[in-house]
Amino acid sequence: MKRKYMILFLCFVIAVALTACGSSNNGGNQDKLPILGAGIYSASDNFNSYIGKAITNASKGVFEVNVEDGQNDQSTQNNQVDTMLAKGAKVIALSVVDVTAAPRIIEKAKEAGNVPVIFFNKEITNSYVMQSYDRAYFVGSTGVDYGATIQGQMIVDAWKKHPEFDKNGDGKLQIVNLIGDPGHTAALPRSTFVKKAIKDAGLDYELLAEDTGMWLTANAKDKMDAWISKFGDRIEFIIAANDAMALGALASIQAAGFNTNGKDSKKYIPIIGIDALPEMLSKIQSGEVLGSVLQDAKTQGEVIVKMAKNLVDGKDPMDGLEYQMDKDKAVRIPYKPVTAENLAEAKETYAMN
Ligand code: GAL
Ligand code: CA
Repeated sequence: MKRKYMILFLCFVIAVALTACGSSNNGGNQDKLPILGAGIYSASDNFNSYIGKAITNASKGVFEVNVEDGQNDQSTQNNQVDTMLAKGAKVIALSVVDVTAAPRIIEKAKEAGNVPVIFFNKEITNSYVMQSYDRAYFVGSTGVDYGATIQGQMIVDAWKKHPEFDKNGDGKLQIVNLIGDPGHTAALPRSTFVKKAIKDAGLDYELLAEDTGMWLTANAKDKMDAWISKFGDRIEFIIAANDAMALGALASIQAAGFNTNGKDSKKYIPIIGIDALPEMLSKIQSGEVLGSVLQDAKTQGEVIVKMAKNLVDGKDPMDGLEYQMDKDKAVRIPYKPVTAENLAEAKETYAMN
């Protein structure tokens, strides 16, 4: 009798343990978020790092994500993609190191079971590549001029408002122009369209110098060091294709005694960049820099995550989104001009942890 109860009791204990075990397993599976395999081409690129942060923030409670740093090396990034797919990533979101590597990434995603790929920031301009895979998409900013027409118009407005900017009084803008990485889709168009916008406004400019600063502060500072010692006060406007380079130019001319006291500086050269990074906004506020063009990293990150979620749920990628996808399967977030007058809006955009 005793033995029978003992066996019954043991059976009961085992049954409870199994149920508990089973349910905790189930619970675990239910709680597990799908993996978003995300990566930026380089963490040294300020703007890309902000998109990475935006993706991480927007993924909270939606995806398990760890934004990889491609270290500006395509083979490193290829390995990262392999690892993401091996871990079971449901969607890949990447700013590729080298845009010509896009077909290889697509191949990997297809082989892993037709995993969708959302490219961002670095646009894959070869439309054949984008059309080669129905689950490849792009999220970025307005294409063609990549914000440079707005930048050009800002230069024109400032020039008209400040006759003192024409230091030599010849009616022309003496400009220096910092171009992005020539291998990047936005670099050349920005350089062309900013100058076009100045011309289209009926103004004339003289190009004292232009060269690439590779999107980077340090490179831009080196270029500017050479230009400021060569041209000094003859420079009437500094155009930078992104803020990281604008900040390098600022550091350079400040060391040469320019823009040291905001817009009240005795020696002053106006600078306008693109991106409206937080580190630039404080310089606009102090008047050390004239303005920038907001490229909305936060919204881009949110759109990437929402599209990824829709794809995982088997819905149309644009379901519930307020943006449109164009024929190149690109979703483009508009640029906005930023000066001291509307800083609050840009600050809000970058308010992320
Ligand atoms: C641009 C951005 C630059 C840099 C570049 C690199 O859109 O304005 O700051 O991030 O992309 O891909
Ligand atoms: Ca002039």
